[in-house]
Formats: sequence, structure tokens, C-alpha cells
Amino acid sequence: MMTQLANDFRSRVQAYTPTAEHHDRLFAEFTTLTWADPVLAAHRRHVESEKLGFGDPAFHALWARLLATAVADFGPVDALEIGVFKGQIISLWALLATTHNWPVRVHALTPLTGAPLPPPSLWRSLLFRFNARFRERVQSGDFYADADYENIIRAHFTHHHLRFEDVRLSRGYSTDPALRTRLAHERFHLIYIDGDHTYEGALADIEQYAPKIVPGGWLVMDDASFDQLGTVFWKGYASVARACHRLPELGFKNVLTIGHNRVFQRQR
Ligand SMILES: C[S@@+](CC[C@H](N)C(=O)[O-])C[C@H]1O[C@@H](n2cnc3c(N)ncnc32)[C@H](O)[C@@H]1O
Repeated sequence: MMTQLANDFRSRVQAYTPTAEHHDRLFAEFTTLTWADPVLAAHRRHVESEKLGFGDPAFHALWARLLATAVADFGPVDALEIGVFKGQIISLWALLATTHNWPVRVHALTPLTGAPLPPPSLWRSLLFRFNARFRERVQSGDFYADADYENIIRAHFTHHHLRFEDVRLSRGYSTDPALRTRLAHERFHLIYIDGDHTYEGALADIEQYAPKIVPGGWLVMDDASFDQLGTVFWKGYASVARACHRLPELGFKNVLTIGHNRVFQRQR
């Protein structure tokens, strides 16, 4: 299974061209692949019915292929998600690892708290009008209702008979100096950036965390296809797409795009 998935991923990378027609076709094919795989389909159905995450079903098929390729290329894999919300992706990684017996260590960097949008008021209107950072946070969906995210994620893992205790959790924001120090020497084969979607926030995550990816490893940027061609998928935010312009200078190449998930590989 691993070899088959990895070969499929590699052949898609080889054939990849960033045209509208190709992006639309890949998105449709990966959506079909997710629903045709019983493990991916059951996981995604649960996410949708319990409202446990965003994104498109097509991403599940991407993760299965990317994780398989990472294991095929590197053996034991360290995979980090920045911005976990209710655990859709880390639980999917853990489920894939358990199902296929893949050696994947799941890392998560996320606050596990909400950041609620202030209720409508004159103050909020003024903030929106005169504070560019607040306006960008609103426009890039950077507010989350208060909830017990840790319990929600634990329940999510339990539903799939997975152990949340095995996740290497860094609780906090990716900009937190103490967390940055603690992670200073960590290296990853795979990082998924899906935290702060403002330009400044996404760029900070790219500059701080992309260099931790080993040569040949991958960075997946969520909500990053605003300036990409395509007609059948939501493309994310201009802010995140603009932050991705920094990636070529850091040695990353956009090797595949599925909807608003863009896969960058660190060149060897
Ligand atoms: C769009 S949601 C993530 C969705 C999740 N990746 C999924 O696929 O279901 C963004 C998450 O990032 C968190 N977040 C926001 N800014 C962050 C930061 N600077 N560092 C880490 N997490 C952040 C939010 O609390 C929220 O849980």
C-alpha cells in the first residue's frame, strides 16, 4: 500500500503543471480518491458530521499519499501541524500510521484555546476601520470561538481508537518565544502550516519553521492558492498566498497543488 501510494504521489508530482485545467482535474480526482478509500472516507465523514474541521475532502487523499511518500523516503517520519483546531489532520495522520503500521511521530503546535471575535459594537467597527492588523485578522478568519479544544481533540482520537497521549504537543502560539526556543533543534520531514492566516503570521511561520524541514521533506501551506489558477475550488487567502512567495528563496519548490493546499518540497 505504501509503495502504491508513494508511486502515485511521485507520478503526480512529475506530471504537475500549474494550469487551471490541471488544478481542477487534480482536485476532482483527489476528491474521488478520498471517498473511494474506506478509511479516508469514514474519517472525513466523521469530521463533516461532527463539524471537526475545515478544508476539502480531497486533502485526505493528499495526506495518505504524502505520508506514504515520506515514510518510503525517510523511514521514521516526524510530522508537525501548526494550527490544529479540532484535530482533523493530526488524527488523520495518526489513523494512517496505525492502519498501515507506518512509523510516524505526530507533533502539534496549537493554542488549544479560542480567540473569539469581539461582539458587534462601535468599538469593533472602529477597530476594523482603523486597525489594519485587526481588519486582516477578520478578513482571514483568524478568530475562533471559546471551546475545550483539548477535550474535543481527545474525543476525536478516541472515536478512531487512537491515543492522543502519543502526540507531541506544543501548547501555545507559533510565535511564542519559549516554544520557539524549545523547538529550536527539532527537525521535521513534513510540516503543515494552518495557523495564523494574516500575511505577517503566515510569513513568520514560514520563516521560523520551514528551515526545520529536512532536505527532500515537504511543507504544505493551507489556504494558499489565492493567486493560483483553477475554477472548482476555494482558493484561500491573498495574505497566505503572498507569504508563500518567500518559499523559493528558502529553497522550496511548489511540487503539487490540491485545491488550496499547496505542497512545497525542500530541494536537496
Ligand atoms: C484553520 S484552523 C486549523 C484547522 C486544522 N488544521 C484542520 O485542518 O482542521 C487554525 C488553527 O490555528 C490556531 N492558530 C492560530 N494562530 C496560531 C499560531 N500562531 N500558532 C499556532 N496555532 C495558531 C487556531 O487556534 C486554530 O486552531
